[in-house]
Amino acid sequence: MSKLIDGKSVAAQIQSEVQAGVDELRDEHGIIPGLAVVLVGDDPASRTYVSMKAKTCVKLGMHSLNEHLPADTSESVLLAHIDRLNLDPSIHGILVQLPLPARISAHRVTDRIDPLKDVDGLHPENAGLLCLGRPRFIPCTPLGICELLVRSNVPIKGRHVVIVGRSNLVGRPLSILMSLRHEFGDATVTVCHSASQDLAAVTRLADILVVAIGRREYIRGNMVKPGAVVIDVGTNPAPEAGGKLRGDVAFDEVSAVASRITPVPGGVGPMTIAMLMRNTLHAARLALASRTDAPSPA
Ligand code: GUN
Repeated sequence: MSKLIDGKSVAAQIQSEVQAGVDELRDEHGIIPGLAVVLVGDDPASRTYVSMKAKTCVKLGMHSLNEHLPADTSESVLLAHIDRLNLDPSIHGILVQLPLPARISAHRVTDRIDPLKDVDGLHPENAGLLCLGRPRFIPCTPLGICELLVRSNVPIKGRHVVIVGRSNLVGRPLSILMSLRHEFGDATVTVCHSASQDLAAVTRLADILVVAIGRREYIRGNMVKPGAVVIDVGTNPAPEAGGKLRGDVAFDEVSAVASRITPVPGGVGPMTIAMLMRNTLHAARLALASRTDAPSPA
């Protein structure tokens, strides 16, 4: 078995499953799943991610709407865009790319998205459902990490998962997901963050170590238990390597100690996009179910 956990090939497998679902929805119900991605400003990394999302959408036969708003867009204008997308029947999923300019409240923005179109799983209703073990939309990166582990035959049940990072996008929802009583869960989960003392002593306890702190090559070989599985969520540009991406894990050192490890790029990143496509298909199916469940007029 290869030490590398290949996110690209697992993501390709999921994309083909999503494509089959898209074909069925189109052929049997005349519905084309639609995803709107809203980008505010010109952050180069965000532009790249947004265009990858749109390309994948089109490749899988979905409708893609990219709205690019100037960096000085006011919060009220952005909220008005979301209101319009909430009402647009051709749009089943809405994603506002984060981070937003500091003037705009990310909370007010995510709260405004129709929870049935919230393919990011960031609306309080969806976050609450996840906490209760009744998930509707699960944030794409945590869901992608779990799918990647399961499809790479990494056992999760009963294992000690240490997550470094507690963001709303990755660390916190992942900690909930992996502690739930289900296929992706049943793990013992520890969450570390910037106030954790003796981080290395905790990371060395991990059977599965997930790192999402946004600090380049922060996790070194001596912070990892021999034989651990390491998932690197980091994407930090390396200026000396022409902007190539490096993870939050020092790959060469850590791969000498770990039993399995995700590369950067080609690990978690493609899984995030594949999960966004799957969540969009799920949103389109929810829209169909609400249509067919509606009582017919007398
Ligand atoms: N920025 C980086 N990752 C994500 C994501 O999964 N969703 C959104 N909305 N913004 C992001």
